[in-house]
Amino acid sequence: MPTVTYTHDDGSQQTVEMAVATNVMRAALANQVPGIVGECGGSATCGTCHVYVDHSTEKFTPPSGDEEDMLDWTAAPRAGNSRLSCQLVPIQAGTELVVRVPDKQV
Ligand code: FES
Repeated sequence: MPTVTYTHDDGSQQTVEMAVATNVMRAALANQVPGIVGECGGSATCGTCHVYVDHSTEKFTPPSGDEEDMLDWTAAPRAGNSRLSCQLVPIQAGTELVVRVPDKQV
C-alpha cells in the first residue's frame, strides 16, 4: 500500500497509508491531515489542495494544462515542485511519497 507523508511548516509530519489509485488530496481528507482543503472535490479548479512534492520520493506525470493554469492561482507561492494533490495518484504499491503542505490554501 502506498504511503504519503505530509510535512507541515512547524516541522511536524503525518504519514498515512493510501489505497492504490487514491489521490493525495483524498488521503489527506480521509485522515484529517490539516492544511489540505480540497474545496472542489478534485476537479483541479480550486487550488486548495496545493502541495510541494519531494521529487526524490515519486515521479509523477507532468501537470495537465488545467493543473498548470490553477497552480498560478494558489494562495501560497508556486514553486518548481508545486502540484495539486488531487491530481497525484501513486500507482505502485510500495510508493513512499513525501509532500510539504503550504502554510495557507485560501
Ligand atoms: Fe480543488 Fe485539487 S481539490 S484543485
